[in-house]
Amino acid sequence: MRTEFVQRYGREPLLVSAPGRINFIGEHTDYNKGFVLPGAVDKRIYAAIAENGTQTVNVFARQFGESVSFDVSETAPREGWINYLLGVTYYVQQIGVKIKGVDVLIDGDIPVGAGMSSSAALCSAYGFALNELFQLDYSRMELAVIGQKTENNFVGLQCGIMDQFASLHGKTGFAMKLDCRSLEYEYVPFNFPEYKIVLVNTMVSHELSGTEYNVRRQQCEEGVALLQKYYPEIVSLRDVNYEQLTRHWQEFNAIVYDRCTYIVNENQRLLAACDALRHGDLPGFGEMMYASHKGLSKRYEVSCKELDFLVERSKTIKGVAGARMMGGGFGGCTINIVQANGVDSFSKLIKDAYEKQFNITPEIYVMQLEDGAGVVGSQ
Ligand code: GLA
Repeated sequence: MRTEFVQRYGREPLLVSAPGRINFIGEHTDYNKGFVLPGAVDKRIYAAIAENGTQTVNVFARQFGESVSFDVSETAPREGWINYLLGVTYYVQQIGVKIKGVDVLIDGDIPVGAGMSSSAALCSAYGFALNELFQLDYSRMELAVIGQKTENNFVGLQCGIMDQFASLHGKTGFAMKLDCRSLEYEYVPFNFPEYKIVLVNTMVSHELSGTEYNVRRQQCEEGVALLQKYYPEIVSLRDVNYEQLTRHWQEFNAIVYDRCTYIVNENQRLLAACDALRHGDLPGFGEMMYASHKGLSKRYEVSCKELDFLVERSKTIKGVAGARMMGGGFGGCTINIVQANGVDSFSKLIKDAYEKQFNITPEIYVMQLEDGAGVVGSQ
């Protein structure tokens, strides 16, 4: 990337990278101010960047073979991936600091649309790079919020903070339990050397933006509004317990009730799953992954037939501790915890079964938990 940058722009860049993420459990809980348990992984977005002495940001995305330019003072969204950079440029300056024009070269190996948050990694890498280059002094959490606001207001996805948080805070060998209300977090070791984290990509691309994802968020808010009439202290589904929910079930629209039930259960499950991890109870942890999937599929309805098939099939393969769909849903990957010496046979069995069923070849990735965004090479 350094060589290409020098050829393209004629000067030495700063090189940074930011990872994609997995999530062990706690899905769709982030925007309900609950808990999540993500980890940063060894697939990353790389950004090479240098000041160019103008007011223009020039971006070349090597994966897409596309270049786009915009003025640092632009405030309105456009079409396509450039919004991730436009939004970050806008929000880093929102509190009054000013940046100058930069040249940027982007590349990476996070599969796009696979539910591993390539977009959050892009915002994190670019935000991190601007922070370094212009010494803006944002904390990692502030950069995560900038990425989230970009996704919310420039891209139009009303996502929570999980992906951006994970991309900026990852730590090798650890998952992170994040409280999405207080933004307090703790590192939880995922310490099962005889197991691997294996993603199976359905190759069904999820298009979350502006669609069902935002509908789910509205449905959760509808549930909160209903319960607030009885319990004014409730601000989000995080504050709701099962008893409060069931007491008022008759007043709920059936779909909204299902959505809320899933979220209330998933928050509880996450806490239990963290306990299981702390006690080295992998079978218990795996059971909770399967229960999470069931809720996501039946009550939250963000799965799809391809994801359901992969999760069901995983149950029949020896050495799989747990599996579930991962991320926003409607496609993307399943996350599987698989015995290390069984990864090859798992991969073969699941690939053959999936090909036979859907006539699609899934991609399979064995993941490592890695550090979050960082400088790879200085100017
Ligand atoms: C997407 C969003 C996250 C989170 C997950 C579901 O990845 O970007 O904020 O809501 O879906 O858990």
